[in-house]
Amino acid sequence: MKKIIIAIDGPAASGKSTTAKALAKRLNYTYIDTGAMYRAITLKLLRENAYDTAFTDEAMLKALLDATDIHLEHGAVFLDGEDVSDKIRTHDISSKVSKVSSLKLVREKLTECQKKFGNEKGIVMDGRDIGTVIFPDADLKVFMTASARERAKRRLEELQLKGETALTLDDLEQDILRRDKEDSERALAPLRKAADAIELDTSALSIDEQVEFIYRRAAILIGN
Ligand code: DC
Repeated sequence: MKKIIIAIDGPAASGKSTTAKALAKRLNYTYIDTGAMYRAITLKLLRENAYDTAFTDEAMLKALLDATDIHLEHGAVFLDGEDVSDKIRTHDISSKVSKVSSLKLVREKLTECQKKFGNEKGIVMDGRDIGTVIFPDADLKVFMTASARERAKRRLEELQLKGETALTLDDLEQDILRRDKEDSERALAPLRKAADAIELDTSALSIDEQVEFIYRRAAILIGN
């Protein structure tokens, strides 16, 4: 069976990662969560008290990035050998990661690393710039969207499940709108739909329906 590259992009909380993960499982492909990599770098900057300086001191940032190892393994993200998969999902990281992902040195480091995954086909990668910058020749590109309110509802449910209850639906909607703006207005690799991506509005779809939608298109390409 032919192996392909599937790129899934879209704004925050549009359902990309849940869908991409389930799709990868169904196809027996590797799932790569690029947002987790940006989150892990954000965590590192916070731990090193280097979050503010990262925006003013390039030499410091370069040294710090050179000394940072980020890798993905079996769906988990490792920062300098430590599994930080849960630690990167906090509201604090979510509110800071977008700014960190606008840094040129950060993007260069992660872009290089993400492109290497393409040497082996049979991957589902999700992010903001996968279909535009990382794999412009991806076999299948999907751009997932949903209304900001719907995405805020999903985030609220996620946070409530983890016991983070301090935020209201309005707070989260504002947060999502701010991230959409930051992610799509930044100079480097901004969030945008690739011309040849299929748009999928998930506002009224279940996860299973989203997976089925992409799976059917992938199956045609794979010859399944
Ligand atoms: O998908 P996510 O919410 O985990 O992504 C976190 C942030 O990382 C998001 O606000 C923008 C950034 N990001 C990016 O700039 N490029 C990617 N390919 C993936 C994420």
